[in-house]
Amino acid sequence: MPGQAIPGIQFREPPIFERGARGRTGASLPPLDVPDVDVADALGALARSRPAGLPEVSEPEAFRHFVRLSQWNFCIDTQFYPLGSCTMKFNPKVNEWAARLPGFAELHPMTPEHLSQGALDLMVRLQDLLAEIVGMDGVNLQPAAGAQGELTGLMMIRAYHHSRNRNPKKIFIPESAHGTNPASCTLNGFDAVPFPAGADGIVEPDALARALDEAKDDVAGLMITNPNTVGLFETAMPRLAELVHARGGLVYGDGANMNAILGRARPGDMGVDVMQFNLHKTFTTPHGGGGPGAGPVAFKKVLEQFQPTPVVRRDGDRCRIYADRPNSVGKVRSFLGNVGMFVRAYTYIRELGNQGLRDVSDMAVLNANYLAARLKEHYPLAYPTAVMHEAVFTDKAIENETGVKTLDIAKRLIDYGFHPPTVYFPLVVRGAMMIEPTETETKQTIDDFVDAMAAIKREAQESAATVKDAPTLARVGRLDEARAARKPHLRWRPPEDPSK
Ligand SMILES: Cc1ncc(COP(=O)(O)O)c(C=O)c1O
Repeated sequence: MPGQAIPGIQFREPPIFERGARGRTGASLPPLDVPDVDVADALGALARSRPAGLPEVSEPEAFRHFVRLSQWNFCIDTQFYPLGSCTMKFNPKVNEWAARLPGFAELHPMTPEHLSQGALDLMVRLQDLLAEIVGMDGVNLQPAAGAQGELTGLMMIRAYHHSRNRNPKKIFIPESAHGTNPASCTLNGFDAVPFPAGADGIVEPDALARALDEAKDDVAGLMITNPNTVGLFETAMPRLAELVHARGGLVYGDGANMNAILGRARPGDMGVDVMQFNLHKTFTTPHGGGGPGAGPVAFKKVLEQFQPTPVVRRDGDRCRIYADRPNSVGKVRSFLGNVGMFVRAYTYIRELGNQGLRDVSDMAVLNANYLAARLKEHYPLAYPTAVMHEAVFTDKAIENETGVKTLDIAKRLIDYGFHPPTVYFPLVVRGAMMIEPTETETKQTIDDFVDAMAAIKREAQESAATVKDAPTLARVGRLDEARAARKPHLRWRPPEDPSK
């Protein structure tokens, strides 16, 4: 029986297509009060030749299936989720209340300008707040995720060079960068040129200067994350920016880790020309990795004309949508972006205010350093120094001693009720475990997590198999990850028709 525990047997939830019976339904519709139409006649060649194959289930079957699946899912509303680099922090419920206000939630994306003044006004206010927070001249809210924000910002850099009749190709990226950085470069036709950080994990101006010298006139820009993906602050940022500007390049700032510097430091003051926000990581909107989230771009005046179109601006006491912008990189998202995300981020920022935003970054940094200070007693830090929002550990010592690796530790954490941290990233650290507690967690939660990590280390020393066989208490055991990646089953196929 689905959803029932049988000792020793793990749970299996069949796809909804494998439940139900022909003719079973959960809907009760009123009798037809319009003339019946033969669909095949009405649609002609466009009519289906056979039924769509939709599940035919009762309401309890459908409801229970999806509720069961939701309960199997690991989520931030039930447990600690220290996924480094992804900043899985709690999303305050007041954001949801605001996003569900009927004036926002029921607004059709094609509502004309004069009837959507409330939403447009919120967008303009959010743009202004975001620009102030990062010290930039303007913000465009359109991109749907951090990664798309990167893509858009680099499109703007490309448009800037083309407007000056230049076509430089090289964007310099520190080796520890998030994978979306080089991908965004490549999609824009740039060459992503990696260069190493110093031994202490941050970029040294001399290393960048050498790389720039080799590129001569081909410098399109620098793409740099600050604080970076090993949780360290790039202290030489202003100097790095000077070096790039002197070569005619621009500085792209990956703003994904803004939660560590909110109210304390502004990328715009450090020489960044264009950057993206990850509203989910910084301003507690639901995580929309690569998709239905929001990754606004902020830019300096010099890039203003290239921002995506349409642009929303205040004009006297009204807000207007401006679509006719000849130098724009174009539209990167349907309509004006994901307005529901804008409402949530705006609510969060207004609820916290100036001091609250500073408290966010103080707490993010305090929590990460507290976690690092306790956990380094059990697992070595990759860079033994104070961190910003996240800390990276290595499995070097434990693997040498017991044969237990990062992946085993990650899987065993599931048995202890914690989501594993990000593993094997960044690649520059052997057996990396990148842990980000975030500002929303209490000391008690962090202590519980560290205690679990210490217990796993003891288990590894006493009986490595316990860790290597994990998870044993989860809904499913250890999966064949290579097969899942290479031969994913992404859609259900009817058993009687396996060829389609
Ligand atoms: C440093 C960094 N850059 C970019 C991204 C991509 O953002 P998104 O997941 O919103 O596409 C992430 C993801 O969290 C990140 O950590």
